[in-house]
Amino acid sequence: MENLAQFTNVAYLGAAVLFILSLGGLSNQETAPAGNRKGMIGMAIGIVATMLVAKVMDWNQTAWALVMGTALVGAVIGAGMAKRVAMTAMPQLVALLHSFVGLAAVLVGISTYLGESSHSAIHLIEVWVGVAIGAITFTGSIIAWAKLRGSMSGKPILLPGRHLINAAMLLACIGLAVPFLSAHGADGLNLLLILTAITCLMGVHMVVAIGGADMPVVVSLLNSYSGWAAASAGFMLNNDLLIVTGALVGSSGAILSYIMCKAMNRSIWNVVFAGFGTDGGKPKATGGQGPQGEVTETSVDEVADMARHAKSIIIVPGYGMAVARAQHLVNDFTKTLRSRGCTVRYGIHPVAGRLPGHMNVLLAEAGVPYDIVMEMEELNDDFPTTDLVLVIGANDIVNPGAQTDESSPIYGMPVLEAWKASSVVVFKRGMGAGYAGVANPLFFHENTQMLFGDARASMQGLVSALIEG
Ligand code: TAP
Repeated sequence: MENLAQFTNVAYLGAAVLFILSLGGLSNQETAPAGNRKGMIGMAIGIVATMLVAKVMDWNQTAWALVMGTALVGAVIGAGMAKRVAMTAMPQLVALLHSFVGLAAVLVGISTYLGESSHSAIHLIEVWVGVAIGAITFTGSIIAWAKLRGSMSGKPILLPGRHLINAAMLLACIGLAVPFLSAHGADGLNLLLILTAITCLMGVHMVVAIGGADMPVVVSLLNSYSGWAAASAGFMLNNDLLIVTGALVGSSGAILSYIMCKAMNRSIWNVVFAGFGTDGGKPKATGGQGPQGEVTETSVDEVADMARHAKSIIIVPGYGMAVARAQHLVNDFTKTLRSRGCTVRYGIHPVAGRLPGHMNVLLAEAGVPYDIVMEMEELNDDFPTTDLVLVIGANDIVNPGAQTDESSPIYGMPVLEAWKASSVVVFKRGMGAGYAGVANPLFFHENTQMLFGDARASMQGLVSALIEG
């Protein structure tokens, strides 16, 4: 038995180190695949060690078969979903997976409480906090999933006195913890179920109040919550690996939320306490003043000509490039131009697309060299000296109104200053708005031309025109 404990400790330590190395690897595009592999190996070690220990300790054959069978069914469903999911639908899948972590923490909390006849005060607090975080994560993530997949409106739903409602629910959770600490059996269980109901409502209430433009921060915040929910499950189960893993996910999610808040010009306090995406309790105006003047349309041949004569080009990819799956053609276009001596770089906004790192993943998949893919801060000063900017399916992230239109919901959000280049060509299908639903004055600038059509078809035409020309 002692050998077994030693084996588990070593296996858990190895897995925890692999998780830390994995996170380190994921911070850079070149090392991300290796980071991913380390994470998968760490997870496999964690699962196998936990299964072996549980089997040797107290599992009978039925329990073993049940767990293996359930794990197998889960693995098959998970693999199928991951294989089928489109890159653009990834945020909703991530939100759904967070909800499972939250639900697991609730179930672990309730079963831990039921499984033992007496509990220490510390253990009861772990159960109480774990169930509360788990339930908020569970329902909050379900709402985020529904909003992201369009099953629910992205508009914020604001109940009158919502701050008071939140405060009352929070106070109830704290107040009910007092009798829970001294309750036994069915009384304790009832209190735990009341807590579950209240915190489930809290999760719903907090996320329905959030507007569409702030949804990326919510997903990242729920990612953090799911980590803390897992860590609290680790405390309840006395499982060190779950505590470490949960803390890693919780803190990395919190850091990512902070970075995204900065990128979208939101304060983290506003996110957590204020029902964000709204202004002082009222939904923000849609912003922008509608179409301003004439847009100038261009053609594939004209853009090919502009590209041929440009010495420096910046490509700004956005959500539309992901929808059109144009990244491979964009890479072909880049290769052709670079082989002719043109400097081509990519400008990546921190919230371009629909998930953190969305554009980086697509460009890496298409084989775009990492050294020409630049962050917004690295590139923003270079637009005035750039001949041509190609905005491919991006909209909000190049909206000058974010700097000038105080009524815009994205006012204050840092943007790529594409309009400062000599010429800008915007690839999109029509005059549709982006995620934030605001008009974009860039389309009416005198140095901007619109290449209407699906980004993939336009890029296909452009690559052919460039090669032939
Ligand atoms: P958006 O502002 O959403 O604009 C995308 C544009 O792509 C649309 O205006 C659309 O115009 C065009 N488009 C769609 N399909 C196309 C196609 N097949 N071919 C060509 N164009 C197409 O995207 P963005 O500039 O990447 O900004 C991201 C936005 O999403 C931000 O507001 C951000 O806050 C939000 N958001 C980000 C995340 C993360 S973490 N990245 C998560 C959720 C939300 P047409 O319809 O006229 O073609």
